[in-house]
Amino acid sequence: MSLEQLLAWIPAGHPDEALARRIDFARLPAHVAIIMDGNGRWAAQRHLPRVEGHRAGIDAVRDTVETGARLGLDVLTLYAFSVENWKRPASEINTLMLLLKRYLRSELNTLLTNNIRFRVIGRVEDLAPDIQDELNTAIERTAQKSGMLFNVALNYGGRAEIVDAARRAIEAGLRPEELDEERFASFLYTAGQPDPDLLIRTSGEMRVSNYLLWQIAYAEIYVTETLWPDFRRRHLLEAVLAYQKRERRYGGITPARAAIGAQ
Ligand code: IPE
Ligand code: IPE
Ligand code: MG
Repeated sequence: MSLEQLLAWIPAGHPDEALARRIDFARLPAHVAIIMDGNGRWAAQRHLPRVEGHRAGIDAVRDTVETGARLGLDVLTLYAFSVENWKRPASEINTLMLLLKRYLRSELNTLLTNNIRFRVIGRVEDLAPDIQDELNTAIERTAQKSGMLFNVALNYGGRAEIVDAARRAIEAGLRPEELDEERFASFLYTAGQPDPDLLIRTSGEMRVSNYLLWQIAYAEIYVTETLWPDFRRRHLLEAVLAYQKRERRYGGITPARAAIGAQ
């Protein structure tokens, strides 16, 4: 959307207003991907069970999704559950799934009013039928929306995605000589979407944890110490501002450097 859309949502004089005004709307990242991490540590700091961190994390999701839509991102992808997260205790997994269901029910109207299209990436077929139903409802109800695409990565693994894409390419009868990077990407869960320009990870961990391995080839990485339940509009704006200060080279050299070399 725009600065106006964003400012309409920020109370006048609020410190976020100054942040919003510093953003260059002509150079927004098209796709922001976030590894929402630190819920357990947030809860531990308060002597609460881990699931309370997940519960509190929902507020951060709500704020981030609306900020992303108002900013005018094309795509926002949130990592909610990895293929490796099944290693956690069943009670924690059950709570995560329950929170997801509740989020989808309570936020569907917000998604609709913000013109957001909802999608899921991951091995959705392995999730419980009631979760799949809830996801499908949100996908179908928002299918015609033309604003931000909001992907939730659920039962997602980057390597699993690449294997699934290879399987689909084989099933489609693709001949080896027909395969190139563009064609391969068309078999990924994110087919047709721009690659993430900005990858954010909360809670300070410097790893990608099997997230969007193919797609983040040239993403700018931003790690913040903020724990996910504390992440708000301000933090997303700060990440975008940091991104806008980066020099992206894609393996080449910038015109300024080329000029120095030519002297
Ligand atoms: C991220 O928080 C949420 C999910 C992985 C679902 P964690 O639960 O990983 O929190 P920490 O990393 O233990 O603090
Ligand atoms: C990554 O966080 C997965 C999600 C955010 C869903 P983890 O907490 O599972 O990652 P590791 O175990 O620290 O690498
Ligand atoms: Mg974690």
